[in-house]
Amino acid sequence: LDTTVVIIGAGPAGLSLANFLQRGGVGCVVLEMRDRAYVEGRQRAGVIDHRAGEIFAEFGLGDQVTGSGPVETLLEIRTDGVPRLLDVPALAGGRPSRLVPQQLLVQRLIGSYLDGGGDLRFEARDVTPHDLDGDRPHVTYRDADGTTHELTCSYVAGCDGFHGVSRASIPAEELTTYSFDHGIGWYTVLADSPPPRYPLMAVSRHGFAAQFARGPQASRFYLQYQPGDDPRQWPDEHTWSRLRLRLGDDALPEGPITGREVVEMRSFVAEPMAWGRLFLAGDAAHILTPMGAKGMNLAITDAYLLARAITASALHGDDAGLAAYSAACLRRTWDYQEFSRWFAEMVHDAGAESDAFRRRLARARLDRLFESPYAAAAFADLMAGTAFPQA
Ligand code: APR
Repeated sequence: LDTTVVIIGAGPAGLSLANFLQRGGVGCVVLEMRDRAYVEGRQRAGVIDHRAGEIFAEFGLGDQVTGSGPVETLLEIRTDGVPRLLDVPALAGGRPSRLVPQQLLVQRLIGSYLDGGGDLRFEARDVTPHDLDGDRPHVTYRDADGTTHELTCSYVAGCDGFHGVSRASIPAEELTTYSFDHGIGWYTVLADSPPPRYPLMAVSRHGFAAQFARGPQASRFYLQYQPGDDPRQWPDEHTWSRLRLRLGDDALPEGPITGREVVEMRSFVAEPMAWGRLFLAGDAAHILTPMGAKGMNLAITDAYLLARAITASALHGDDAGLAAYSAACLRRTWDYQEFSRWFAEMVHDAGAESDAFRRRLARARLDRLFESPYAAAAFADLMAGTAFPQA
C-alpha cells in the first residue's frame, strides 16, 4: 500500500483530519485540486466553537491552531434599536468560542502538518477514487506537469466540499439527499469601518442586519434582502442607509466598501456519510446556513470522529467506530441544521412585516432568550458546541 488514508480536499475538514491522523501515527496523503495560495487565502467562516477548540487541544494543537484567537465575549441582539446583551460563554458554563478566520486556521493546519513531515499535494487534477466498495481502493490524479499517479490505500476520506468528486462517486441509488432553501437572501459587505464593541445582530421590521469585527479596523456587515432583488447593484449609499436604519444607528461610521458578496441561505444533507471504504466529512456531506456558525465546526467534529474511527481500525483492527461513523455524524448534523434553521427564523421572521403571526412567534422566541435562563442556556450550549454523540 502507498499509504493508509487518501484524503481528498485540503479545506478545514481534510486538514483537520490529516493533522489528527498524523498525531495518531496513521499515514495519509492529502490531494488538493487548488494551489496553496488559493487555499490559504479563501475567506469564509470565522468561529471555532468551544467544542472544536477542545478537539484541537486533545491533539496538542490548541496553542498552535486556536490559541491566539480572541475569545468570544458578549453577543448583542439589538431589537428595534434597543441593545440586548447575552453572555454566551458564561451561559454555556464558561465555554467560550474563539474567533479564528478560516484562512488563518487553514494556514496553521497546513503549517503544522508539513512541519510534522506530512504529505500534501497541491494542484492535483482529475482526482478519481476507484474500487471504493472493494478491499483495495485506490485514487488516481494528474500532477501539475500532467503526469498521472496512483495511490493505493485502505481508506478514502472525501473532504472535497459540496462540489467535490467524492460524494459523486457513490452510486446515486445508495444516497438520499435533502435540500432546503430558506427563502432568505443575504448580502454581505466588507468595509474599512470600525468594528462594533460586540458581535451585533439587529432585528427590526426593516429586516435583519448584522455587523462583526474583521480585525481592529474593519467590519463585515450582513443584510437580508428580498429574493429576486440583486443587492450587488445597490449603490453604496443605499447599503449604508439600510444599515443605519436596521442597526438603529444614525451615526454608524462608514468606510470604503472593499468586498461585496451574496451568501446562499440553503441547507443540504447527504445520507449516509459512508460507502464501502469511502467516508465523507464536512461540506462534502452537509451544508448549513451561516446562522449559528456551525459549518466549519461540524467539519472539524466529523474529522475528529473519522480520525478516531480510522485509527482504531488501522492500528487495532477495531471497525466499530467506522461502522458507527455515519450515524454519529448525522445526529450532530441534523441537530445543528435544526439550530441553524431555528436561529434563522428567529431573527428573520421577527422582522417580517408580511406575516404577522410568524412575526409574533419569532419575537416570542427571541424574547424567551432574555427572559428564561433555561432557554438562554440551551442556546449557549449549541453556540459552544454540544457534547459528542458517542460513536
Ligand atoms: N479534488 C481535489 N480537491 C478538491 C476537489 C477535487 N475534485 N474538489 C474540491 N476540492 C478541494 C477544494 O479546493 C477545497 O480546498 O476540497 C476542499 C474543500 O474545502 P471546503 O469546501 O472548505 O470544505 P470543508 O473542508 O468540508 O469545510 C467546510 O468550512 O468554510 C467553512 O463553513 C464552511 O461549512 C464550511 C466548512
